[in-house]
Order: sequence, then structure tokens, then C-alpha cells
Amino acid sequence: MNFPATRLRRLRRTEAMRSVVRETHLHPGALIYPLFICPGEGIRKEIGSMPGVFNLSIDEAIKEAEACASLGLGGLLLFGLPAQKDEEATGAWAEDGIVQQALRTIKQNKALDSLVAIADVCLCEYTPHGHCGVVKRDGDHYEIQNDSSVVLIAKTAASLAQAGADIVAPSDMMDGRVEAIRNALDAGGHEQIPIMSYASKFASAFYGPFREAADSAPQFGDRRSYQMDGANLREAMREIDQDIAEGADMLLMKPAMPYLDVIRAARERYDLPMGAYQVSGEYSMLHAAFARGWLEPERTMMESLLSIRRAGADFIVTYFAKEAAKVLG
Ligand code: PBG
Repeated sequence: MNFPATRLRRLRRTEAMRSVVRETHLHPGALIYPLFICPGEGIRKEIGSMPGVFNLSIDEAIKEAEACASLGLGGLLLFGLPAQKDEEATGAWAEDGIVQQALRTIKQNKALDSLVAIADVCLCEYTPHGHCGVVKRDGDHYEIQNDSSVVLIAKTAASLAQAGADIVAPSDMMDGRVEAIRNALDAGGHEQIPIMSYASKFASAFYGPFREAADSAPQFGDRRSYQMDGANLREAMREIDQDIAEGADMLLMKPAMPYLDVIRAARERYDLPMGAYQVSGEYSMLHAAFARGWLEPERTMMESLLSIRRAGADFIVTYFAKEAAKVLG
């Protein structure tokens, strides 16, 4: 008898062989690229902690979107940096809000028809305090008001759908927002617009660079009273149950790499389409290592994305979307 009887290396000998037995695949159509839209014209301002990612005025965002479309990406996730912020987050739901304007321009452009335009729904970029909801303050004490926040969040979602969003994606983590958004969409005649809920979103240090990109850092306190404790997997399942019961059409898990076990658990339990968000800090830390020559950019990037797919995500929101699509050809 030959020793050993089973030789797993037989199927790894050549790239052709490896390609035939490969279990997990990445494709550009399942990658979503985030865009940060700012007022003005001709603006393309790089975010210090996120090399290759920019604040873009609408004209520049359109160029970026056209590049995404020709690379075959699946879609865009839009965030806004309003000219002004106020307690009511007016810029989030105003008819001429920055993302609403961007959506109208995108939807007029035939070259962008292959992209799904997803609008992030949140208040943190639009409030001076940078929290994702309405804040009630009493001296040093503050409380994020759930139900009055949900009213504004639902109004924001309806306004974004009205402006042309193909999907609305609430990222605030208030209780009851999915149901309120569904009702607001239906009341506005947008019964065909799906809700992709950030169903399981953890209070993560990995969002740090995003807060620079979206100018949305909380001015006091933190987000732990609404985003989830990173220690809790069972609670993540309850959040997802709740969002499905309220009418979520698809799920977004966030962050990705530090929470691959949560993605896997959700995949085994739920049949909804599910994406994962490889967040700003995941991108920044890899870039920091690339810049020092400590990690090889292309292989590390692709491996990070593959791990998220293997954990069970159908699609990935990632700042690497364009680069990865280039590699995938
Ligand atoms: C808004 C929002 C955040 C991110 C997506 N939507 C920031 C936060 O919750 O603080 C983070 C995305 C990233 O880090 O890339 N609520």
C-alpha cells in the first residue's frame, strides 16, 4: 500500500487544477463601491486615512461612477457631506439634499444603468453632534431618542427613494426603523424599493477613518447605546430576526473581517440575500501595511475579500471594489 493513501496535494499541483476545484469565487458584479458626495464642483479631495478614496462633488462622482460601471461593479453606496448640519438633520431628508441631487444626476445618466444605486440612510452626517439620531441633552447627560429619530430616518428613506435610490440602507440601528421605513416607502408609492438593513452593526473602532471621510464623528459620547456590543453573537441574530420581521429585503453585516463568525452564523440561519461591509478601518489598516511594504497589496486584498465571501456574504461593500474588479478582469 502506498503511503499516504490520500494525497490532497494532487489537486493543488497546477493553477489549472486549482481553478477547477475552487470552492469560492469573487466577481465584480457582487462588489459595491462607497461614494462620499460633497457640495461644490470639481472637488476631488483625498481622505487622509484612506488612500485612493475621495470626497467628490457630484460632477466628479459621476466620473467615478462611470469608471465603476465600466469595471462591471454591482453598485454604489452613497453617503453625503451636507453644506450645513442641524439638529433635525434637514440635509438628510431635504428634497435638494446632497445625496438626493447626486441620485437624480446618476439616474439621468444611461451609462450608469448597470449600477444599483444604494442610499445609506442615517442622520450622523447631517447633525452637528454626529450621532445617528435625535439627541436630548440635560446638562452632561444625553440620550439618543429612538422614536423621534425613526420618524426622521423614515422620512429620509422616502426622500432618497423619491430621488431615485434603487435600494435604501438604514445604518442607524434604532429600534423599529425597518418597519417605519417600509411604511414611509409604501405611502410614497415606493413599494418596489427594497430595504437593505444594516441588520447587525457593531459599535466598532474600525469605523474611525469613515468618520473623517463623512465628517460624522460623534462630538460627545459614543455609539454604544445603539450599535451592538462586539461581544454578542446571539444578539446579532435577534437584530436580524427583528429586521426580517419588520420587512427587510436584504441584510448587511458590518464590519466584515473582525466579525466573520457572525456572517457565517447568519448565512446558516437566514435565506435573505446578505452582504458584508468591509469598513474603512479594514481598508486603512491594509493600506498602512501596503505602504510599508509589509503586505503584498494585490494578494492580500483579494484574500481579504475571498474570506468574506467564504464566510457566507453574497456581496461585499468595499473600498477595494475598483482595484479588485481590475484584478478580476
Ligand atoms: C453611518 C455609517 C457609518 C459607517 C457606515 N454608515 C459610521 C458609523 O456608524 O459610525 C461606517 C462605514 C465605514 O467605516 O466604512 N451610521
